Amino acid sequence: MKNIRLDHVAVAVTNLEESLAFYKEQFGLDLIDIEVVEEQGVRVAKLNLGNTHLELLEPLSPDTPVGKFIAQRGSGLHHICMGVENIHTEIDNLKAHGTRLIDQTPRIGAGNCQIAFVHPKATGGVLMELSQPPQTDEMH
Ligand code: CO
Repeated sequence: MKNIRLDHVAVAVTNLEESLAFYKEQFGLDLIDIEVVEEQGVRVAKLNLGNTHLELLEPLSPDTPVGKFIAQRGSGLHHICMGVENIHTEIDNLKAHGTRLIDQTPRIGAGNCQIAFVHPKATGGVLMELSQPPQTDEMH
């Protein structure tokens, strides 16, 4: 069977500290780290959710993708991320099927992962991220 997993679920929030306090205090989730990803215009808090992660995304400014998302729809589920072993193979496969992509080639995301987004119009209305961790050539 193909080695694919739920890497994270990302929620767009307006106030990272408030949302973080909520998930830490009321669900007892542990914060792994907070990272500013300038390229995507977000501050990301990564929380441990057992076998996956919950990411809270706070826009750095209103004119970023997440800022625009919140302006249009309010805070809420932003994307789901599938962890893959070879992102190039996945992208090639999607392209071969004519699937609408946001990223035609992988770029570097949080945690130095190679990431690419698939358009929600193609996935049933959910923004879908593919992510290949920095060292998937390692045995695990
Ligand atoms: Co993500």
